[in-house]
Amino acid sequence: MSGVPHLLLAIETSCDDTSVAVLEDGRTLRAHLIAAQDVHRLYGGVVPELASRAHLELLPPLVSRALAEAEVRPDQLDALAVTRAPGLVGSLVVGVAFAKAYAAALGVPLVGVNHIEAHLHAATLEHGESPLPAVALVVSGGHTELVEVRGFGRYRWLGSTRDDAAGEAYDKVAKLLGLGFPGGPVLDRLAAGGNPAAFAFPRPMLDRPGCDFSFSGLKTAVVLAVAPHGAPPHPEPLLADLAASFQAAVVDTLVSKAMRAVDQVQARALSLGGGVACNRELRARLAVECGKRGVALRIPSPRLCADNAAMIALVGAWMLARGDEPDPDLDVVASLEESGLPMDAG
Ligand code: KG4
Ligand code: ZN
Repeated sequence: MSGVPHLLLAIETSCDDTSVAVLEDGRTLRAHLIAAQDVHRLYGGVVPELASRAHLELLPPLVSRALAEAEVRPDQLDALAVTRAPGLVGSLVVGVAFAKAYAAALGVPLVGVNHIEAHLHAATLEHGESPLPAVALVVSGGHTELVEVRGFGRYRWLGSTRDDAAGEAYDKVAKLLGLGFPGGPVLDRLAAGGNPAAFAFPRPMLDRPGCDFSFSGLKTAVVLAVAPHGAPPHPEPLLADLAASFQAAVVDTLVSKAMRAVDQVQARALSLGGGVACNRELRARLAVECGKRGVALRIPSPRLCADNAAMIALVGAWMLARGDEPDPDLDVVASLEESGLPMDAG
């Protein structure tokens, strides 16, 4: 098969969100459902075994609902796409096993999509193709990546985190402050009422060349700052100041490195992806910096920032249009480094 599939069903189960999308002609979302797994809130983080089990329960009815919403019968589907890497192995296996069986039963091609590659292009669904070269910043609970995008499949890695991901730092700090999981949205909200200069937290790696990140030292700085105040619950004004100061350090770091990457490759666009791209301060600061440089800023709506099957559908459709061989026996890969993504455009 080559050419863009008319009706493609995509499945995303790489972490703790179960998502299904139906994409028409590589452009139009006929259905897009995301089932968040609330069970992890009880544990203050994603529990892999529980995530796999929840995918197993949620996925079959979600596929039925997505097809019903799209008004598409299974036998009308032309292709399937599924996230095959990177992610939690057990979670990926549920989606891939389901997709293989479904594609085999329907006799349609199946392609395995790289989740990070999908985040790089998610903004395309709402903003159209980027002017190139572009830089993509993917900031989630598991990843902090800066990538030069020269076209579909043509990437050069500019920077990654050396330890914690940006979202992971939000989640760990929120847990430390007794604010529950996930930490990003609640800290984002609290930060709006606090003083970003109340605590002088470090801006990790800003004094070093390159576009790599490190967030674990910042988390330690928050631990030390909160220690004299004892255990949670803390008074709201203290929480607001801590949140604002922590967020200022994260956002300063992300914005500085992203703009360093943009300047380095003379990018014409900056695309965002990942749950942290929902952060209001980050969005506002990047808008100012991109505005100064005349660089197009492409931020997807929150549903397309977080883990979602729409972006998997988009990249799956592009892979089939490019002529990639369908892979009925595809296997899952946990790590980004081994996920087969072209990481150097040469
Ligand atoms: O992409 P995502 O939904 O899942 C993966 O981690 O793959 O991202 C979730 C992450 C969590 O760490 C969460 O705390 C963070 O995104 N997040 C935010 C905000 N909303 C979600 N971080 C900062 N500000 C936000 N508004
Ligand atoms: Zn993700």
